[in-house]
Amino acid sequence: MLSLLLLIATAVQAHMHLNYPPTFNASNNPHTTGTGDPYLNYPYGCCGRTIPMPCRGYLDLIELPEGAPVATWAAGSVQNFNLTGIGNHYGGSCQVGFSVDKGTTFQVATSYEGNCPHRNNGDGPDGQNFNFTVPADIPTGNVIFAWTWINREQEFNMNCASVTVTDAGDPEQQPPASSIAANSTIAATPSTAAAASSTAPAQPSSSSTYMLQGCSCACAADGCTCKCAGPNAARSLVQRKAHLQHLQRLRQIDNGAVSASQLKRAAAAVSYASRPQMLFADIDNGCESVKTTAELKYPNPGPDVVQGDGVYPLALPTPAGKCGY
Ligand SMILES: *[C@@H]1O[C@H](CO)[C@@H](O)[C@H](O)[C@H]1NC(C)=O
Ligand SMILES: *[C@@H]1O[C@H](CO)[C@@H](O)[C@H](O)[C@H]1NC(C)=O
Ligand SMILES: *[C@@H]1O[C@H](CO)[C@@H](O)[C@H](O)[C@H]1NC(C)=O
Ligand SMILES: *[C@@H]1O[C@H](CO)[C@@H](O)[C@H](O)[C@H]1NC(C)=O
Repeated sequence: MLSLLLLIATAVQAHMHLNYPPTFNASNNPHTTGTGDPYLNYPYGCCGRTIPMPCRGYLDLIELPEGAPVATWAAGSVQNFNLTGIGNHYGGSCQVGFSVDKGTTFQVATSYEGNCPHRNNGDGPDGQNFNFTVPADIPTGNVIFAWTWINREQEFNMNCASVTVTDAGDPEQQPPASSIAANSTIAATPSTAAAASSTAPAQPSSSSTYMLQGCSCACAADGCTCKCAGPNAARSLVQRKAHLQHLQRLRQIDNGAVSASQLKRAAAAVSYASRPQMLFADIDNGCESVKTTAELKYPNPGPDVVQGDGVYPLALPTPAGKCGY
């Protein structure tokens, strides 16, 4: 316990920042003109510095050559970021996400609950790589990528980078509906026997199973339950995608079975715009992470969550009302 306290004490003045993609005004950003910002690893409120939100006040650079994109990613592709610094605080929780409206809103791509940065892998960038999936339906063009970190000492950091998102390049990301539905069987339950005749509408209880993104999904008209191979799979998003597929299929079979508004609601539930906002906490905005050794649990983590190693408990920030839940 003593060694843990010492570790935390020595870590307080030690910080991490986003190394790849290179952030605005970073010395490793090819578009930086001067020597760059040496304080990118300082958390907000730290060390006598006032750091503007969001993105450390660098969003005006997106209109300038200094803010030109530093990476090109296809929507739906798997990418990585990595971190570097002078001390990893033995973990914490991170989010990455995007702003497609020049920094007004930031939608979550992936939440890493605990062990971010990797507590046992040093100060990076070696050993501090993290994968994430670019949301498949994110608007394309030049957007802002953001990384946030809430460590176990209630410190918040945020770094942003300018990236270009292109159309989904990999057709495997979007298998044709026929292959998705390959194994589906519309079950004719006793009460739907009449549905076989062309006059009666297909019953909402019609069920199917789908294989989708490595998950096996059992779907009914009111939703799907998916079992996924990997613990990190985006199960809730896959469930919503499978539900949309299922409603589309029911509608194909019988145009009257599913209303246009049902379909529209299901489509909206899987959209980029429906993703939660990234959590901002510990920046005098009324939302505080707990002051224990716990790592942060995100109240609205979004569909892609990477679980840490369980070394510390996870705790929600408080109070709920100020933290968006
Ligand atoms: C980059 O950071 C340095 C050091 O803080 C600062 O002097 C400079 O104005 C910044 N550049 C831009 C473009 O903001
Ligand atoms: C950081 O990520 C970039 C992009 O994938 C990669 O080229 C680079 O090698 C990574 N850095 C380290 C130290 O792994
Ligand atoms: C991250 O992605 C790379 C390249 O696709 C892969 O080799 C690696 O295993 C992935 N790491 C994790 C932790 O999923
Ligand atoms: C279809 O079902 C068979 C047997 O249950 C299984 O082996 C196969 O992986 C399934 N394929 C798809 C695309 O669901």
